[in-house]
Amino acid sequence: MSTPHDLVGAINDLKKDLNAIVLAHYYQEPEIQDVADYLGDSLGLSRQAADTNAEVIVFAGVHFMAETAKILNPDKLVLLPDVDAGCSLADSCPPDQFAAFKAAHPDHLVISYINCTAEIKAMSDIICTSSNAVHIVNQIPADRPIIFAPDQNLGRYVMAETGRDLVLWQGSCIVHETFSERRLIELKTKNPQAEVIAHPECEATILRHASFIGSTTALLKYTQTSPLDTFIVATESGILHQMEKQAPGKQFIPAPPTGNCACNECPYMRLNTLEKLYVSMRDRKPEITMPADIRQAALHPIQRMLEMSV
Ligand code: 13P
Ligand code: SF4
Repeated sequence: MSTPHDLVGAINDLKKDLNAIVLAHYYQEPEIQDVADYLGDSLGLSRQAADTNAEVIVFAGVHFMAETAKILNPDKLVLLPDVDAGCSLADSCPPDQFAAFKAAHPDHLVISYINCTAEIKAMSDIICTSSNAVHIVNQIPADRPIIFAPDQNLGRYVMAETGRDLVLWQGSCIVHETFSERRLIELKTKNPQAEVIAHPECEATILRHASFIGSTTALLKYTQTSPLDTFIVATESGILHQMEKQAPGKQFIPAPPTGNCACNECPYMRLNTLEKLYVSMRDRKPEITMPADIRQAALHPIQRMLEMSV
């Protein structure tokens, strides 16, 4: 079946026909960002998924995000344009190995970053995102030991910000580990007026050069309100589209990866395209599903996150 010439028009028609909402992450390609009903970071997207009245949720993001929407909306149809849009960070925490890790620390509270599978969420006490991890850890009594999974870089950042000693799972994101400190210093030397801003999934060698660290939404807000007009941005480069749109006239330079590659583009996020978004709505698939017991066990830690967030 051929795709229509006016894909955006066709997607907008399908939104009405299906009573669908398109939720998109900032790492999606610009055409998808522009057709989304809501664009946000993982916390914002979870809140939208929890609050929407739409019957169909089309998740232009990666699998763990669409899974979270399904956990919050078991009776709704949740679509992911490309079902292979996974996440290296989620993959770095296999459920069987994590179960053994958790069993080795029986008295520990388990706080898991939302970038994990539904199985890991089901084994967790509280979920967090990059925008509320510090705030959530700060609410846990000081004498309660904590496992933090799966992102070791975010975990180390939370340890530095809270002064807490966390037991870290050694996972990481291939995109945020790609930035080169040496090339970042070179770039900063050539652009001394530029301010480095970074996502906390980056390694400490990058974060130590950043004057602002935050979630994608926090980084975006910062560039809008900062009096400065040039930024070196250490996160997936898809967010530059929104930064340029929302602060025209300011300059945004992607932080340089180690090699001469487009490794600061997430290969999973970029599997989704406008065509696949249209086809998923037209065909009402691929649909996100999961076993009921996993879904039910994963719901409580997500709800705790929503309750504990500001
Ligand atoms: P946030 O948008 O919540 O900052 O997360 C970034 C990310 O890793 C999405 O995969
Ligand atoms: Fe996962 Fe990293 Fe891609 Fe985010 S940017 S979806 S953490 S691989």
